[in-house]
Amino acid sequence: MPHYKKLGSIPPKRHTQFRKTDGSLYSEQLVSTAGFSDVYSLMYHNYPPTLVKQAGEAINVQPEVAIEQNLQCRSFLGFNISPKEDYLESRVPVLVNQDVNIYLAAPTKSLTEYFFKNSGADEMIFVHFGEGKLRTTYGNINFHSGDHLIIPRGTIYQIEFNTSENRLFIVESYLPYRYPKRYINNMGQLLEHAPFCERDIRGPEELETHDEKGDFKVIIKRKDYIFPYVYASHPFDVIGWDGNHYPYAFSIHDFEPITGRVHQPPPVHQTFETDKFVVCAFVPRLYDYHKLSIPAPYNHSNVDSDEVLYYVDGDFMSRKSVEKGQITLHPLGIPHGPHPRAVEKSIGKTGTDEIAVMVDTFNPLKITKQALGIEDTNYHLSWLD
Ligand SMILES: [Fe+2]
Repeated sequence: MPHYKKLGSIPPKRHTQFRKTDGSLYSEQLVSTAGFSDVYSLMYHNYPPTLVKQAGEAINVQPEVAIEQNLQCRSFLGFNISPKEDYLESRVPVLVNQDVNIYLAAPTKSLTEYFFKNSGADEMIFVHFGEGKLRTTYGNINFHSGDHLIIPRGTIYQIEFNTSENRLFIVESYLPYRYPKRYINNMGQLLEHAPFCERDIRGPEELETHDEKGDFKVIIKRKDYIFPYVYASHPFDVIGWDGNHYPYAFSIHDFEPITGRVHQPPPVHQTFETDKFVVCAFVPRLYDYHKLSIPAPYNHSNVDSDEVLYYVDGDFMSRKSVEKGQITLHPLGIPHGPHPRAVEKSIGKTGTDEIAVMVDTFNPLKITKQALGIEDTNYHLSWLD
């Protein structure tokens, strides 16, 4: 949950008259979560956000699962998915379960012809390659390679790319994202031992306030369906808002690594958590400095979760070969660790330039049909010499 923020004009007292220069009222909207019992924001619109002109038929976009029960280490070559012009069509589901859908996307064009709202899930868009502007009801956020864009449910958005070669790793979560609890004090502040702080969180800064009537197409997603809607007023018509429910960016390059004399466990890399999975960031860092330390990780069995690693950049010392955009999936119950000779090779090294994003899910992940099309099918045998 990001911290309290205010943007644009709001009345001094909530739920009171807030008038335009012509004397008419702005339209107040409470955007709230968990049955009005958790994080919320209050927005003030030029027009009521209720002006529906058309509500279209639901379209099924449920990911096609090819492997329901998986207990095999797998790897997928993420950059082998095809680029697509349309943003929503470009999102290819690869690993899914009841809590989360993981997509790879290579959109080549900006999303400008319609607006998108995920009404049933929060989205984390990790920008591997690309730069541009996330335009939302709450204002705009400039983004670059390395940004995690956290877009809470209910946010209407468009994405403008300044680039045509874009690569995104998207984690759609039915549970809200929050900072790890152990990094938050009783007042909600990020603690000194956290690897990032409030200054690293970039909320919306540029509020677009359109005063425009017409036909505005908003594609709304809820679980496995999308619903085409047409609204009579521009979705970006907010004059001001405040609260704790809003999109923000956090760059992986602003994550300050926690290191030690001997190998540090994966939680030191954590960036976000939900009740059903965690997200971690592996970033360039100095290696362990005990005189007998082994920088490569030990073999490990994370017996409670499936582990997904998305490789972004640098040389991964624990792997024989790894490509940018590659995903590895190590399911619970199957130990994994460094590839042959990687342990000896790591000794004496002083640092790493590796960058990766990790998602550990507490429920088993299923493999989609599209994922099988980009799979390195011998990966599970890759520890044999
Ligand atoms: Fe692992």
